[in-house]
Amino acid sequence: MFRYVADISNLSHFIIKNFLENKVVAIDGTLGNGFDTDFLSDNFEKVYSFEIQKDACNKYENKNNVEVINDSHHLFKDYVKEDVDCIMYNLGFLPGGDKGVTTMHITSLQSIKIGLEMLKSGGIMTICIYKGHIEGQIEETCILSYLSKLPKSKYGVMSHNYLNRAEAAPLLVVIEKK
Ligand SMILES: C[S@@+](CC[C@H](N)C(=O)[O-])C[C@H]1O[C@@H](n2cnc3c(N)ncnc32)[C@H](O)[C@@H]1O
Repeated sequence: MFRYVADISNLSHFIIKNFLENKVVAIDGTLGNGFDTDFLSDNFEKVYSFEIQKDACNKYENKNNVEVINDSHHLFKDYVKEDVDCIMYNLGFLPGGDKGVTTMHITSLQSIKIGLEMLKSGGIMTICIYKGHIEGQIEETCILSYLSKLPKSKYGVMSHNYLNRAEAAPLLVVIEKK
């Protein structure tokens, strides 16, 4: 059983837990089944969690420090009026749900751009990208193209890719703001 390379979601949790200094406010850009939101709830004072599917929002067993927002993540600024220490995305469709409802490259990219503005100095953004479906492949191209042009004086951008798995294996991108 692998420990480090087994799962990119767990890896994103590990990175946030161990490398982010201030854990005050976080955003989960994609609530889904709530695993990332639970992780953020355990580690941050306040969490905003976005999800377009009402059923998923209703299913989430809410915690005191979590605000679930049934709207799209490209509208962060309509709901979050403060800068944040951390933003997580697990793109794609809801595991066990409707595979036709997926994050879309235009709104994902809009959200990432706005999120980077909202990220405090020293903050971390993580993005899990799933390439096993066509929209995920488009997301990968657009997002990596945008992130690769970010000024290195302000952002550190690192991609974690599997080299010996299928071409469609997921990848984790981590952005740290100076
Ligand atoms: C891979 S799942 C998220 C997994 C989740 N983080 C977890 O821990 O279970 C992706 C989720 O993003 C949601 N989603 C799709 N487009 C969205 C958008 N524009 N804004 C917010 N959520 C969106 C989907 O409905 C789906 O539930």
